[in-house]
Amino acid sequence: MRLILLGAPGAGKGTQATFLCQKYGIPQVSTGDMLRAAVKAGTPLGVEAKKVMDSGGLVSDDLIIALVKERIAQPDCAKGFLFDGFPRTIPQAEAMRAAGVKIDAVLEIDVPHEAIIERMSGRRTHQPSGRTYHVKYNPPKVAGKDDVTGEDLIQREDDKEETVKKRLEVYQSQTRPLVDYYSQWAATGDAQAPRYRRISGTGSVDEITARALQALG
Ligand code: AP5
Ligand code: ZN
Repeated sequence: MRLILLGAPGAGKGTQATFLCQKYGIPQVSTGDMLRAAVKAGTPLGVEAKKVMDSGGLVSDDLIIALVKERIAQPDCAKGFLFDGFPRTIPQAEAMRAAGVKIDAVLEIDVPHEAIIERMSGRRTHQPSGRTYHVKYNPPKVAGKDDVTGEDLIQREDDKEETVKKRLEVYQSQTRPLVDYYSQWAATGDAQAPRYRRISGTGSVDEITARALQALG
């Protein structure tokens, strides 16, 4: 299974990715997690990406496309993968198409604007694994600690209110056009086109997982 999760910042892509990857036995390819790992390691890519991420903008298409191509060439991606946060622009989607990377399905998670702000402000993350919690809606077993390792949870740098607003604007202008791009491609009946499914991302985490699995069949 090769799957794309599409949705605004804070829609729950990372949260649902955990369950879907387990179910389909595929790795999660999250460009956000990969960039945060590069920032933490202080690599040249990380230094470049940090400025952009902290401002709520997008890292350049060339860098991201190279990063993803390298990642999906690894052996664990041979059986499939789940893209979380990629593609995020039309050129990124076109690059996959040009490279002959056939995607089975695009799943859009649709969440109203108001809910997104609350989700981001309560988010806590286990940086090494990318596991995500919410202080109210998806709390860890022990406050402030990761369920699996017991390590500290952190608040993401880009979850400050001003940066969240900018990220939502960038989503509308740069990423939202992918909704039309993929749904129109699916409607042509082209054998290369991925199936397009949209689900509501409102409700409990479990309800949304059930909706996602039903939509994907
Ligand atoms: P990235 O890490 O991809 O961030 P994002 O797309 O903005 O998405 P988020 O991770 O914020 O949200 P999510 O949908 O994963 O939600 P989550 O499951 O955590 O990108 C970060 C930055 O990296 C970008 O701004 C950009 O600079 C750069 N970048 C990354 N990819 C790039 C690319 N391809 N091209 C260029 N630049 C790129 O959930 C959010 C919160 O809600 C959590 O607290 C969670 O517990 C809670 N929650 C989840 N589900 C529910 C529910 N059902 N009910 C209540 N709360 C819930
Ligand atoms: Zn995420």
